[in-house]
Amino acid sequence: MKTTFYGQASFAIEAGGKSLLFDPFISYNPMAKDIDINTLKPDYILVSHGHGDHVADLLQIQKNSAAVVICIAEIAGWLESKGVKNAHGMNIGGGFNFDFGRVKMVNAVHSSTLPDGAPGGNPAGFLIHSEGKTIYFAGDTALTYDMKLLEDENLDWAFLPIGDNYTMGADDAIKAAGFINCNNIIGMHYDTFPVIKINKDEVAEKFVKAGVNLKLLRIGESLTL
Ligand code: NI
Ligand code: MN
Repeated sequence: MKTTFYGQASFAIEAGGKSLLFDPFISYNPMAKDIDINTLKPDYILVSHGHGDHVADLLQIQKNSAAVVICIAEIAGWLESKGVKNAHGMNIGGGFNFDFGRVKMVNAVHSSTLPDGAPGGNPAGFLIHSEGKTIYFAGDTALTYDMKLLEDENLDWAFLPIGDNYTMGADDAIKAAGFINCNNIIGMHYDTFPVIKINKDEVAEKFVKAGVNLKLLRIGESLTL
């Protein structure tokens, strides 16, 4: 399994022979100007919630790739209203076996209005089981006690927001790593906007002190999971 970072909360994950793309916000992100979205041909796009910094490139990339969009039922309905025929709506607590592995939609504490003002239902995170590994993509979320429900999932890696202001910051992400019982964290949702700029050295030091492995990928960088 391999992941590639595209900025903010956008990652590709190669899993089970398929290409998954999470929360596409790339062409609208000046930090990701070297990524050409027309080269992205995912089989699946997973959308955690409806905010612009997670869906800005969703319709274009879906059109280019005919990817199946995995998202909460309200966003699936919104996509259908935009002419997307293969949205796979789910809801919190539900899982489904796809051809690359199993996806379970889990709770996130945040909000979720779509860019045109349509309601995006509840925000979500995803548990991905594929190739014998288990990955948690938290989406935009506060630290929440519900994360404790993941402690016996034997997580290999977790994608957690660390940028503060709109989501949990580094201190709460370290607590979250404890709640979910996962020591391999990929940080996301930082530096894109002035209010979520982080001091990477300070954050790295906090994680080292807590004994938690934090990876901060450069945009375009890949990591084997
Ligand atoms: Ni958000
Ligand atoms: Mn966001």
